Amino acid sequence: MTIHYRTHTTKNLIWISDIHLDMVHDDVKRRFLDKLANARCDAVLITGDISSSEYLVAHLTEISHACGSTPCFFVPGNHDYFGSSFAMVDQAIADLCARHRNLIALGHGEIIELSRNTALIGCRGWYDGQAGAGSGTKVGSADRHLIKDFRNLDRARYFETLRMLGHESAAYLRRILPMALTRYSTVLVGTHIPICTQVLRHGGTFCELDRQPYFSNRSAGNAIVGISRNFSGRHIVVYAGHSHCFAEFSLSSNLKIRVAGAQRGFPTFQPMITID
Ligand SMILES: [Fe+2]
Ligand SMILES: [Fe+2]
Repeated sequence: MTIHYRTHTTKNLIWISDIHLDMVHDDVKRRFLDKLANARCDAVLITGDISSSEYLVAHLTEISHACGSTPCFFVPGNHDYFGSSFAMVDQAIADLCARHRNLIALGHGEIIELSRNTALIGCRGWYDGQAGAGSGTKVGSADRHLIKDFRNLDRARYFETLRMLGHESAAYLRRILPMALTRYSTVLVGTHIPICTQVLRHGGTFCELDRQPYFSNRSAGNAIVGISRNFSGRHIVVYAGHSHCFAEFSLSSNLKIRVAGAQRGFPTFQPMITID
């Protein structure tokens, strides 16, 4: 993997997550895109679940037009693959980003300098099936039926695939996060799946053990915690979505996790991120 350094000086970063535009009435979507077009910001970060595969390209195109000259850094979420496969959706995203230069999919070696002190990195991530009840969970996941790569897997192979997806994101972060922390005192990490169970809520309450395997990327969390210990003078802030329940947690003095709140049908902005 080649590391790409690029600079986009940013003071105000709009954070958006789990807008699920495929489930939004047209007039609500129009108001949301108008708000985005008129927002005072220097960049946008979207932490996944933008749409579903059928509408993802159309909705990202609308977001690109709303953003104008403002860059939109994003990672896809699990819903963005619904009705298709990893390879098809990833290719569609790559083709779209090649045509719309303000759309930047994170997860391909980018280290974005937002200020002299702060950089942004990111990767999609995936729940790794390890948290809570693990593969012994009594709860199923819609993803197993709606994403083609999972459809024909028996339970054991499904959970092995989840574990591998978690490991992939952990390996990516082990490669890129230390490089970013070597240059910048604060690194923001955009990803879709929360990296620890302490931030998990479901329907506003504690996320039960049977659901945790589908809501946490423990592999990525372990990687980030390990790296944070080697960079005690630096700060890492992870921005995630997926659970739709706002939560904030400091795993240590230099590692903070923020999870976006969201309500399907009502896309909104998360609290503005101010860059030092
Ligand atoms: Fe979502
Ligand atoms: Fe999600």
